Amino acid sequence: MPGPVLQDSTFRQIRDFIYGKCGIYVADVKKYLIENRLAHVLQEKDLHSYEEYLAFIQNGCNGRDLARLYDAITTNETFFFREPQHLDLLIDTVLRGPLSQRRAQGLKIWCAACSTGEEPYTLRMALIEKAPSLNVAIVGSDISETVLESARRGVFTSYSVRNVAPPYLKKYFTVNGHQYELSRTVRDSVKFLNVNLMDEKAMRTVRDNDVIFCRNVLIYFDDKAKQKAVSLLYDCLKPGGYLYIGASESLHNVTRAFKPHVTNKVVVYQRS
Ligand SMILES: C[S@@+](CC[C@H](N)C(=O)[O-])C[C@H]1O[C@@H](n2cnc3c(N)ncnc32)[C@H](O)[C@@H]1O
Repeated sequence: MPGPVLQDSTFRQIRDFIYGKCGIYVADVKKYLIENRLAHVLQEKDLHSYEEYLAFIQNGCNGRDLARLYDAITTNETFFFREPQHLDLLIDTVLRGPLSQRRAQGLKIWCAACSTGEEPYTLRMALIEKAPSLNVAIVGSDISETVLESARRGVFTSYSVRNVAPPYLKKYFTVNGHQYELSRTVRDSVKFLNVNLMDEKAMRTVRDNDVIFCRNVLIYFDDKAKQKAVSLLYDCLKPGGYLYIGASESLHNVTRAFKPHVTNKVVVYQRS
């Protein structure tokens, strides 16, 4: 029997609801994505139409149901040592350079929207290897509770570790069939939190960072949502702190509050 059909007007209302909650803008051409991904949620909730689902979320569904919606609509692609040019820049110029005066009191790095944790864990391994004397606290966060649970578990696929150099694989992972379990020392050295980049109250809990990585998430936002997220991220940095965004992303037309620094074509944005 064919499943429920998502009418255009219902799609637009679900799209607006999602946008209002988390800034993700689902273009008309991606209607199929909402239809496919929410079909499972309808089944789970024993709802028979998207109209029923819309009424359900609009009429104050609980946090778990919202979390289920975020799980269904977010794209969580990530892997270890993604965009490694940022790592070299972080360690060689930023942490050993301008931020090094602050090393005595310890530095704080926040990976906002870190999905299943490969990004903050990569930073931790690179820091252990290349700057072992630096005292750096690392926090990872995401809007999806499912990816955060996976991050805390610390067990990864061969796809996820494909860019990990053999010495790091040997030192930091235990191979179990097709699974790669990260060492407890690395897992325990990153704290994970659920933070929605659109939620001002939640964002206030992650203040005073020296460095923020917020990579490959702004691409899912429209300009207005990008402006809001970036302005909140600005407030979460200490003066002089640095923001890294994805290599394919830009703050052009989003804000002029940051000073861009370009080294070997790699950009990092500094809070003035
Ligand atoms: C493509 S992944 C990027 C992961 C990692 N930063 C990287 O570059 O490999 C994007 C992540 O952003 C998260 N996300 C989407 N909207 C968000 C929001 N409003 N607040 C926090 N996280 C969000 C998604 O759940 C997803 O895990």
